[in-house]
Amino acid sequence: MRVPFIAGNWKMNMTVAEAVTFVNEVKDGLDAVSGMESAFCVPAIALPSVAAALSRSSVFVGAQNMANNESGAYTGEISPVMIKPFADYVILGHSERREYYGETDALVNEKAKLALAHSIKPIIACGESLAQNQAGETQAFVSGQIRAALDGISTADMLKIVIAYEPIWAIGTGLSATVEQAGGIIKTAVRDTLADLYGNDVAQQIRIQYGGSVKPHNIADYMSHPDIDGALVGGASLKPDFVELVANGVTA
Ligand code: 13P
Repeated sequence: MRVPFIAGNWKMNMTVAEAVTFVNEVKDGLDAVSGMESAFCVPAIALPSVAAALSRSSVFVGAQNMANNESGAYTGEISPVMIKPFADYVILGHSERREYYGETDALVNEKAKLALAHSIKPIIACGESLAQNQAGETQAFVSGQIRAALDGISTADMLKIVIAYEPIWAIGTGLSATVEQAGGIIKTAVRDTLADLYGNDVAQQIRIQYGGSVKPHNIADYMSHPDIDGALVGGASLKPDFVELVANGVTA
């Protein structure tokens, strides 16, 4: 009943010209995959061009961040009003935003509410550091991130949200979490927390992605876990074999 969803997060890669060339190269391949929703979350400057290139494609477009205000004196920021014509989704609270730009749970919550107010679907990212993992704090930390990010969000809005669980130690390292590790945390720290907040019926409808060194060769393993509904893919979404990754993610 949950439509699986694999999103590419390009991070700070690709010029506008490179972005357009790339999506034109892969869009037909992605359109040919059924039973899987896919998206590219691209740098803000590439949103208009990528959205135009994908206008007749089933591939969705996402932003990687947005401001917590609609307009005003916020030098360098890009507002939900600006991204809305081009973006179906927006990644919020990626660990790189939290680590390098000081984003807090409270800010992620504020941005999530504002994105929803502008009909942009948030992909809310959560995940623990290596130190937290080794200290046995993963469960409490991730569950706390989820509660804080969703504070005050209605059930109707929750149904539009995607959660991405990305253990920080698995991002860009080649050290992917095992299916049991990732699926276990997704079940106990994410879905069970959603059930506690919104009830089990709602929790069963929410799509939860795994992220961290997902590649064409390991996506099928993740998708075999009953609680993993897709992936948020960094490095491997910059290569043409992202099409293979998405196709390999379709479960029988
Ligand atoms: P990698 O797939 O490069 O590990 O990145 C994961 C990620 O951070 C996606 O948001």
